[in-house]
Amino acid sequence: MKILLTGAAGFIGTHIGVQAQARGHEIVALDAFLPQAHGEGARPGGFALLDLRHDDLDDVLDGVDVVCHQAAMVGNGVDAQDLPDYAEHNDAGTARLLAAMARAGVRDLVLASSMVVYGDGRYTCPVDGDVPPDVRREDDLDAGRYDPRCPVCGGEIRWREIAEDTPFLPRTSYAASKVAQEHYAGAWCTLEGARTIALRYHNVYGPGMPADTPYAGVAAIFRSAIARGDAPQVFEDGQQMRDFVHVTDVARANVLAIEQVSDHPAGLTPYNVASGQTFTIGQMAAVLAGAAGAPAPVLTGDFRRFDVRHVVASPEAAKQGLGFVAEVAPRDGLARLATDPLRMR
Ligand code: UD1
Repeated sequence: MKILLTGAAGFIGTHIGVQAQARGHEIVALDAFLPQAHGEGARPGGFALLDLRHDDLDDVLDGVDVVCHQAAMVGNGVDAQDLPDYAEHNDAGTARLLAAMARAGVRDLVLASSMVVYGDGRYTCPVDGDVPPDVRREDDLDAGRYDPRCPVCGGEIRWREIAEDTPFLPRTSYAASKVAQEHYAGAWCTLEGARTIALRYHNVYGPGMPADTPYAGVAAIFRSAIARGDAPQVFEDGQQMRDFVHVTDVARANVLAIEQVSDHPAGLTPYNVASGQTFTIGQMAAVLAGAAGAPAPVLTGDFRRFDVRHVVASPEAAKQGLGFVAEVAPRDGLARLATDPLRMR
């Protein structure tokens, strides 16, 4: 198959390119080499240097069977001044790509989405049943009460595994842009009778992760702290649940999606891409620090207003629909991350 891979020079895109080529696919590797991700002036060969926001995309789509769209501005964002960048790169960039695909007659898309579309996810209240959690109260957080409350009775609730039919509840600029990408792709499917597989990545980690930047996730932040000889700083009480999924598994999920998207029904089909093994941030910090022989993690009790408390995915739909089951257990992959190379800018 001929695949247009956007964000091909990025952390996840690089691994997808390697695995797709190993499966015999032809890759058109496209990347904008944004300075915030790659540093100023980075221009490795072998890439179509194009920016989805304004460059002509018609030539690179010639003869393409499937587009695998990884290019995006990532991370939580620093402050409200980031909003236009998320909207321009992620929303408008995707809309322009979809319009160009319609002109080129390309009807199959694999889209990098994220678990951030679920925001705080769903919980079970012993009194009120299945509920979205209330936004955490500042006085609760100050008092060291980190778990959210029931939005109806204000009582204690328990997190549940999130399936793909969980309603969208984006909390950050990035999350809003990922929801928008899914909506644009869905609209394009309706207009074109086209197919999209949206892969909702959970916390991706592994070799080639970008080193600590204001937009980095917790695995990169802890890995960078360890490289400096510092202890990982664990926020809240360290009991926040996440699903850490290895980048080689994420790349394999993409290749499976690329190869099977044309067999899917018209419209957008979402899949969680997760290891299926729950891990707390405290456990993850301990595994990383232990493997590196670094100072033990420090529980700071700090918190960030925009953080969601627990996000745990059901990997069942990806298993049924794509035959995807993660191979790297977080305990092994996170231990290896202690010595995996990071991408330095
Ligand atoms: C992360 C990504 C998000 C991505 C999602 C799924 C970032 C910033 N976030 O969201 O873009 O879509 O995974 O792949 O890239 N924490 C600490 N110490 C720190 C930093 C964070 O304890 O120094 C804690 C946070 O309080 C939070 C948890 O680690 O509870 C995860 O934080 P983070 O990786 O930033 O965000 P996610 O919500 O997991």
